[in-house]
Amino acid sequence: MSQAVSGTTQAPAFPQARTCPYEAPAGYRELAATGPLSRVTLFDGREVWFVTGYAEARALLADPRLSSDRTRPGYPIVAPRFRASVARKLVLIGMDPPAHNAHRRLLNPYFSLRSVRELRPMVERVVERYLDHLESLPQPADLVSAFAIPVPSMVMSEVLGLDERDLDFFQDASRRLLHATTEQDSQQAGGELSGYLDRLVTLRRKESGPGLVGLLAPEVERGELTQVEAVQIALVLLIAGHDTTASTIALSVITLLQHPEKLAAFRADPDLLPGAVEELVRLLAVTDLAGARVAVADIEIEGRTIRAGEGVLISATVANRDETVHENPDEIRLDRNSRNHIGFGYGIHQCLGQNLARIELQVALSRLFQRLPGLRLAEPAESLSYRAPGTGTVQGVNHLPVRW
Ligand code: HEM
Repeated sequence: MSQAVSGTTQAPAFPQARTCPYEAPAGYRELAATGPLSRVTLFDGREVWFVTGYAEARALLADPRLSSDRTRPGYPIVAPRFRASVARKLVLIGMDPPAHNAHRRLLNPYFSLRSVRELRPMVERVVERYLDHLESLPQPADLVSAFAIPVPSMVMSEVLGLDERDLDFFQDASRRLLHATTEQDSQQAGGELSGYLDRLVTLRRKESGPGLVGLLAPEVERGELTQVEAVQIALVLLIAGHDTTASTIALSVITLLQHPEKLAAFRADPDLLPGAVEELVRLLAVTDLAGARVAVADIEIEGRTIRAGEGVLISATVANRDETVHENPDEIRLDRNSRNHIGFGYGIHQCLGQNLARIELQVALSRLFQRLPGLRLAEPAESLSYRAPGTGTVQGVNHLPVRW
């Protein structure tokens, strides 16, 4: 394994494809075996830090000397589509304090445990609707397009307060944005979505309406928020909350079906549900990274120096399997009951939507396996088409043919 320093042997590539949805790529394990920090090479040839140790990951995610600002020159861009300005000028996730704190303070109440509990009946309605749809399809049916994608998409559209008649446009443009392999496609789809959200904010400034856009528009009228900020908040929620949850649903289904004894326990004991979802988020770590940052000052850590201007990738996939934190970390233990993972990130950028994501995953997985007790893969898991690393780091399957 090359412990590369720029100018000598090239460090291994990042990202690397998983060969199993719930296992870390062998290349990452090899890197982790060399120490908690190593080096990887991005598609554009740049070398950046790769953090795999749990303690180091948390320390760095909490370190104000690392910036999330994607417009800084040293920020590590992991796939071509993230070069697009629509992916670089992101509010919240791409902001540093103090601007970040102001946005977070505005949105936290809406995504608190209490507020999100009130959304549960809506999530249940959405899940039943798409289970009805799935059941109406000829078999084998594609669980990704019939259930895993539309459920979070519809939930986000309800959360934002979009018009149901716009759902087809919204789902299509979101899919094109998230699956774009080029900067141009990403920019095009992002522009269409921003234009749509801009028109919606303008409309809601004139007449009140439901959802988060309905709450943000009056803030714009009061001068608390600019129109552009309101549009960008809606866009970032959509980007962050849609694909991640859809992929976790699809990969959780594969993982549970591949472990029949765990699935039987999951079905038999409803009390296992919250812990099971947490364990799936830990093991699947669908975002692969708990964060991508650029150093704004030199940082000494574990005998290494991260220099100002260098990129830092923090691996949730590997750090979530640190055996000093999780006993037998590769084993799925639905009763592990540990929230000590960084599948939702850590520090000031820790996932805003995690309470909502938990509810979506709990309702979607429990109802799917209740309503379709005979659910099974129509193709071996090994032959499924897994998402290519060229689109970014979010893990997923393109299709999931199932029977029941
Ligand atoms: C299983 C589903 C999900 C996973 C695995 C996930 C994962 C993550 C991770 C790892 C981060 C940290 C990124 C960083 O520090 O750079 C993050 C941040 C974020 N997530 Fe999620 N997420 C999920 C669902 C959602 C949902 C449903 C929403 C929206 C309602 C959402 C909205 C956000 C936002 C806005 C941020 C940025 C927060 C900030 O910068 O302060 N996520 N998420």
